[in-house]
Amino acid sequence: MGKLDGKVAVITGGTSGMALAGAKLFVDEGAHVFISGRRKDALDEAVALIGRNVTGVQADSADLDDLDRLFATVKRDKGSIDVLWASAGTGEQGRLGEITEKQFDDAFSLNARGTLFTVQKALPLFNDGGSIFMTGSNASLRGYPDWSVYAASKAVLPAYARVWVSELRDRKIRVNVLTPGQVSSPMMESVMDAQLKAQFESVIPRREMGRPEEIASVALFLASDDSSYVNGMELVADGGTTVI
Ligand SMILES: NC(=O)c1ccc[n+]([C@@H]2O[C@H](COP(=O)([O-])OP(=O)(O)OC[C@H]3O[C@@H](n4cnc5c(N)ncnc54)[C@H](OP(=O)(O)O)[C@@H]3O)[C@@H](O)[C@H]2O)c1
Repeated sequence: MGKLDGKVAVITGGTSGMALAGAKLFVDEGAHVFISGRRKDALDEAVALIGRNVTGVQADSADLDDLDRLFATVKRDKGSIDVLWASAGTGEQGRLGEITEKQFDDAFSLNARGTLFTVQKALPLFNDGGSIFMTGSNASLRGYPDWSVYAASKAVLPAYARVWVSELRDRKIRVNVLTPGQVSSPMMESVMDAQLKAQFESVIPRREMGRPEEIASVALFLASDDSSYVNGMELVADGGTTVI
C-alpha cells in the first residue's frame, strides 16, 4: 500500500530538481500528479520520465491566467485536489547597492505573489483534510551576503502558513513550509561556479550539498498522513546548516 494511494497532487515547478524527484516519489506512492512548468520541452521530458499517473500542464506560476488554466485542467481531469506543493520559485544574487527593480519584481512576483495565488486558486478544489506546502529557503533564515531579495521573497511563506492554518482549520487542511538548504538541482548546478559551490559547501555540516531525493522524502512526509499533526510549521531540511 502506498502512502498516497488514490490521492491527487499538484506540484508547481515540477519538471526539474527537488519537485521532479517529489513527483516521481508521489506517483510511486500511489498518487496521480499534475506537474507544471514554463518550458514545454522540459515538461514533456518530465512526463515521459515519470511515465504514468502524471499530467503535465505548461503554466507560469507568476501568471494568474496560467494558474487558472492549471487548476481548470485539474478540475476537468480529476475534480479535486488532496495535496498541493507550490514549489516554483526563483532568485538570483544581488548585493545591496546593485539590486535592480527587475530582480526584486521577478523574485516577489513568483515567490511571494505567485505562491499566494497558487494556493488561493487551488482552494476551491481542495478536499477537506488535504495538505498544502510551499517551498521556502534557508536563505531566509541565515544572512547569506548577496541574497537579500531572494531571502525576503521566501520569508513571507511561513507567515502565510501561520495565518492560513487558522483560516482553514474548519476544513482540516494543513499548511506547512518545506525549507531546503543548498541542494544540487539542475538549476543550482547551472548557476554555480566552483567558488560559489565551495562557499555553499563550507556552511553545510557534512560539506556536501543535498540531493533532490533527500527533499522529496520530506515532501512525501508533508504530503501524507505521516505528518497529520504537523501544521503551520517550517520544516527545515538543510543538513544542519542553519543551526551551526
Ligand atoms: N536548489 C536549492 O539549493 C534551493 C534551496 C532552497 C530553496 N530552493 C527552492 O526550491 C524550489 C525548486 O528549486 P530547484 O533548485 O529544485 O530548481 P530547478 O531544478 O531549477 O527547478 C525549478 C523548476 O521550477 C520551474 N519554474 C521556474 N520558474 C517557474 C515559473 N515561473 N512557473 C512555473 N514553474 C517555474 C522550472 O521549470 P521552467 O523553467 O520550465 O518553468 C523547473 O521545473 C524553488 O522554489 C527554489 O527557490 C532551492
